[in-house]
Formats: sequence, C-alpha cells, structure tokens
Amino acid sequence: MPRLPEFLALTAEQREIQLAVRAFAAQEIAPHAARWDRESHFPREVLPGMAELGLFGMLIPEAYGGLGLDTVSYLLALEEIAAADAATAVTMSVHNSLPTQMILHYGTEAQRMRFLPPMARGDILGAFALSEADAGSDASALRTQAVRDGDAYVLNGTKAWVTNGSEAGVILTMARTDTAGARNGARGIAAFIVTPDLPGVRVGKHESKMGLRASPTVQLVFDNLRVPIDQLLGEPDAGFIYAMASLEHGRLGIATQAVGIARAAFDHAVAYAAERRQFGKAIKEHEAIQFKLADMATRISGARALLFAAAAAKDRGEGVTQLAAMAKLTASETAMWVATQAVQVFGGYGYVTDYPVERLFRDAKVTEIYEGTSEIQRIVIARELYGE
Ligand code: CAA
Repeated sequence: MPRLPEFLALTAEQREIQLAVRAFAAQEIAPHAARWDRESHFPREVLPGMAELGLFGMLIPEAYGGLGLDTVSYLLALEEIAAADAATAVTMSVHNSLPTQMILHYGTEAQRMRFLPPMARGDILGAFALSEADAGSDASALRTQAVRDGDAYVLNGTKAWVTNGSEAGVILTMARTDTAGARNGARGIAAFIVTPDLPGVRVGKHESKMGLRASPTVQLVFDNLRVPIDQLLGEPDAGFIYAMASLEHGRLGIATQAVGIARAAFDHAVAYAAERRQFGKAIKEHEAIQFKLADMATRISGARALLFAAAAAKDRGEGVTQLAAMAKLTASETAMWVATQAVQVFGGYGYVTDYPVERLFRDAKVTEIYEGTSEIQRIVIARELYGE
C-alpha cells in the first residue's frame, strides 16, 4: 500500500524504471545503509549492480553508450536510490547531473566519444570541482590558477568539498585563466576535464561529515598539474557559465535526494506510530501524532509536485533556473523538517543509532547546504523575479 499518493502521470516505461530501481534499492542498498554510514564505507560493491540498471548513463544519449532518457525518468530512479541511502544517491546525482552533462553539452565530439561511454557504463565515476576554502557561495571568487603553457594548461590550487573526488576518473574542474592582476570575475574561468592519472593531482583531506558518511568528500590538490589542451572544455572564459547552467540539473538531483530522504523518514514514522503503544493505544491513534503524519505527507507531496513540475519543464526544453532553485529550496527544507518530525515521533528511540531516523536527520541537513545553500536558492529565485 503506498503511503503517499502517486500523482504523476507516468508512462509505462517510467513506471517500469521506478519499480525496477525500487526493488533493486530495497534489496541491495537499504539493508546496508546504516552500516555503510557507521563505517564511513563507500559502497563500491553496489556500483556494478547500479551500472547494470543503466543508472550512470541515464541522461547520456544512446550514441555515447547511455540510455538517453528524460529528466523525469532519471529523477524517479534517483528518488528510489535516495530513499534507500542518501549517500549512494549523491554519488549517482553528481555523476549524472554535473560532469556527464557538462561534457555532453560543451565538449567536443572527441571528448564525448572518449569520456561518455565509460562514464555511462559506470566504469568511470565523475566529480565536480568548483568550490574552494574561500569560494563557496561566492563561487566565482575561486583562485585555482590555470596558465597556458604550450599544448597544456598548468593548474595550481586546492579544491574543497569534492563529492566522489577520491573515487572519480573524471573531475570537471573550474580554474582561473585570467592572470592575477586582471581578474575578470565569472568571465575569467575555464572548465577542464581533469583525469587523476595526470601527474600533479593529489587527494587531500577526507572530510569527516555529520551525515552522508558513506559518500567521500575530499580536498583535491593540484600542484603544477599539466592538463593537455584537448581536455579543456569549450571556451577558456566560459567555464563558470557552464558550471552555473549545469548546476540547474544538479539542483534537481539534490531536490530529489531530499525528497527521497523525507520519504524514508516518513515511512519509518508511519510504521513506528502503528507499533508503538502509549496511554493504552498505538500512538497513531493520538491526534498529536496524526497531525504530524498528515503534515509530513502533505509537505512531501508538495515538494515532490514542484520537483517533477520542474523536471517536466526541463524535458519540454524550457529554462528552469528559477524552478530548479524553488524545487531544491522546498525539497531540502521539507527533508529537514520531516526528518525532525520523524525523530520526534520516535521520541527517545529517534535519538539513538539503533533506529534509522537519526541518520536521516543527519543526512537531510546537507541538502540545505550543498549545490547552493537555501540562501543562494532564494537569491536565484528573487533575481529571476525581476529578470536580472
Ligand atoms: N545558466 C547560465 N548562465 C548563468 C546561470 C545559469 N543558471 N547563472 C549565472 N549564469 C551566468 C551569468 O549570466 C553571468 O554571465 P555573463 O558574465 O555573461 O553575464 C555569469 O554566469 C556570472 O553570473 P553572476 O553574475 O550571477 O555570478 P555571481 O558571481 O553573482 O554568482 C551565484 C551567482 C548564483 C551566487 C553563484 O555564485 C552560485 O550559484 N553560488 C552557489 C555555488 C554553488 O551552488 N556551489 C555548488 C558547489 S557544487 C556541489 O555542491 C556539488 C557536490 O559535490 C554535491
């Protein structure tokens, strides 16, 4: 029995994808998520099964070895992975939404043919290196330098908060091509397809995070890294614009991850409220709990409706800058709120690691932070109001 209404008019193919990924996630991912979190274990062993389902090439056209599916299908699959384990979901989201999309949209035919087929097969994971220690929300303040030297660019600098960074075979990296004296802001930045086999790339600090502990987040240090010119993506002054445009896709991915987390927290709360007895009856019979569950169901359905409206608009080829920001803002704040309520329904048991809701509570928080904080989403939404 579904606990939330499936209000989307899915095609037969989309429904099939949703059910296949749901079954896979229930069997291969959900039972292990608590241990992976506890042990900070990156679940490499689950990647081949995900790859077999095509989950690393959902948006990559068939000509480059992917499934060539629409955004709605991709996000339906991602939602199922996220409901089972948010950490595995961010691995999938970053790979599909950022590096593969950037190579597909801005790469040369040779770059697409070289990188997309192994990425679609899941042989190579992708990462996205934009942020730095002093350039988070203010992303265009990044300082990693890229200096042209013959047939290569030489990169120096340190990237921060790189999801998949220690596991990736392709790291889409933004670096400044303008010289120190002539900062052109967002315009003086290029995007590079960095591969970790190049001498001069080193994985730095592994972050120890509050949540998503099974997803590796690292610093990447570039020390006189020579990136061959054929691994420059598009125009040398347009990398920031490519990154911003791709983050629209990324933000839909994180919104989906948040919906998955909220759904999981809600499911646990519903089940627990039916089992737990206080004052002589199951706590679901108490109005205080009923109202909580009703509000959780309503908020999740609202966030999901906005998310899939944004995804459908993207599939129609419409600009979704504002909608993607709204979906990410709504879904992440919903995830945090729903996870908080779920902990409350569990009471003391919600506060201990024997039960899953404390992990969901910890996992939810980052969705309000990465790929643009809630404050940045509000800026993006407000700017669009005036067409800025
Ligand atoms: N699509 C296309 N182009 C865009 C765009 C979009 N959505 N948004 C901005 N641009 C273009 C602008 O048109 C502008 O181009 P011109 O120079 O031609 O005018 C250029 O990009 C610069 O834009 P802004 O002037 O708006 O830049 P800004 O410095 O004021 O920054 C910002 C705007 C919205 C605050 C931006 O810095 C931002 O989004 N910050 C948040 C950073 C972020 O989301 N980081 C995520 C890190 S990745 C991550 O978390 C992944 C992970 O591992 C999970």
